[in-house]
Amino acid sequence: MTLIKWAELVAIGDGRGQLVSLEENKNIPFEIKRVYYITDLKPGVPRGFHAHRHLHQVAVCVAGRCRFVLDDGAKREEVWLDSPTKGLIIGNMVWREMHDFSEDCVLMVLASEHYDEADYIRKYEHFLEAAKHV
Ligand code: TYD
Repeated sequence: MTLIKWAELVAIGDGRGQLVSLEENKNIPFEIKRVYYITDLKPGVPRGFHAHRHLHQVAVCVAGRCRFVLDDGAKREEVWLDSPTKGLIIGNMVWREMHDFSEDCVLMVLASEHYDEADYIRKYEHFLEAAKHV
């Protein structure tokens, strides 16, 4: 089964532009406890390189683009986020890396939990070990 899962984001467009609505427990498959966004990204400088024990997230490039790599310890898949209507669902125990940010990229992330550094697995070998027991 693929690691690439999309939230159902619908663009409501008219002559004035485009609007996308995100609603918890509707097109976002969890209660939204936190939203953060990443800006001023540097081309050639990747981010991420961690997994979360419990956290679920949806990532959207509301401007620009970047390439996500997802890895569940058994397989590795990649996908471009290059549209405000592409909402990538990232479950718990999925290693993620973000690469190839465009200079105009604004990456917004919706999260199911408040920030908790203890939920992070930041070493890939620790992730591989933990993923064996999922
Ligand atoms: P980090 O999760 O390492 O960023 P990325 O995965 O994009 O590379 O977070 C960068 C820093 O920001 C780190 O010091 C933790 C802090 N941070 C918060 O304080 N709150 C948050 O909600 C997040 C996601 C990060």
